[in-house]
Amino acid sequence: APSDPDLVARARAAKEKLGERLFVLGHHYQRDEVIQFADVTGDSFKLARDAAARPDAEFIVFCGVHFMAESADILTAPEQKVILPDLAAGCSMADMARIAQVEQAWEALAEAGIQDSVVPVTYMNSSAAIKAFCGRNGGVVCTSSNAEVALEWAFQQKGADNRDTKVLFLPDQHLGRNTAVLQLGYSLDECVVWNPFKPNGGLSAEELAGARVILWKGHCSVHGRFSADVIDELRAKVPDLNVVVHPECQHEVVLNADLVGSTEFIIKTIESAPAGSSWAIGTELNLVQRLARTHPDKNIMFLDRNVCYCATMNRIDLPHLVWALESLAEGVVVNQIEVDPQTEAEALVALQRMLDLPG
Ligand code: 13P
Ligand code: SF4
Repeated sequence: APSDPDLVARARAAKEKLGERLFVLGHHYQRDEVIQFADVTGDSFKLARDAAARPDAEFIVFCGVHFMAESADILTAPEQKVILPDLAAGCSMADMARIAQVEQAWEALAEAGIQDSVVPVTYMNSSAAIKAFCGRNGGVVCTSSNAEVALEWAFQQKGADNRDTKVLFLPDQHLGRNTAVLQLGYSLDECVVWNPFKPNGGLSAEELAGARVILWKGHCSVHGRFSADVIDELRAKVPDLNVVVHPECQHEVVLNADLVGSTEFIIKTIESAPAGSSWAIGTELNLVQRLARTHPDKNIMFLDRNVCYCATMNRIDLPHLVWALESLAEGVVVNQIEVDPQTEAEALVALQRMLDLPG
């Protein structure tokens, strides 16, 4: 639906009034009505870097979800204020790993006598507290665009070629499994799943001892819905169909696809695809619809029978953005995301390790 013209004019006016004091970041899954006001768009890795690259902006308005705004707060100067236009824009995957559960798992690994061999790696899609846990325990943050190098880095930390080293991967089991198996060559048997609701993660001592990758039992409720069967159905219907999916999809889906990568990778893939080519895309629907609209010369379809937006990304809508911008323009700071200094210092260690990774 077209944006309400009155709200568009108000957002423009507030942005103009704030001028250089304001910088608006927009994740690729944001609604069109919001993304039109972003000064930069990106995947979570690019946005983390872009936030850190604007030291002069007094206000960073983050059109995305809570963990991204937290990361931006950690990566920016103390006097810069990060604003999330709707505080209810969380992430169900990030919520699947609570810091108390992770500390409990870490204790259990110590009791099992293997904690010294374990390097924690957390996906960006996690709370600042979990990034801090990784920072103080020799671990690193990764995103879907650098998970391979981050895992390689982690496996080097206890000495190159140390066959005892294990990675605890939080909180997305699918990104962890897809990266470990398809990019690093570990076997499915070397990946085990830690269920935080069971004693010892539901794993026997033998299972833990034999594992190289301990995957937290978390997933994305949006990407988890795509199925390998739908890929088969579409391939039967559409000649020369190409399938590109996000690595948060289940392992069988990624195996059945032609290409896998972050949202930024998916966009570049479509941009460089020849006119007339057909693409089924397995990622959030706002992005797929935008790609279909901006590439009318290509046949672009969504890899699911049903509509599935990320409900929390969609919480950021034009009314919330206008409210946040107008409040700032009037001198009222609303919805500021502030990570406490101790957590921030430890989380920064893990985020900085990610930013320092090669590539
Ligand atoms: P990227 O931005 O790394 O592609 O991740 C997608 C996502 O799920 C963000 O919530
Ligand atoms: Fe979280 Fe999935 Fe939404 Fe990304 S798409 S914010 S991982 S629920």
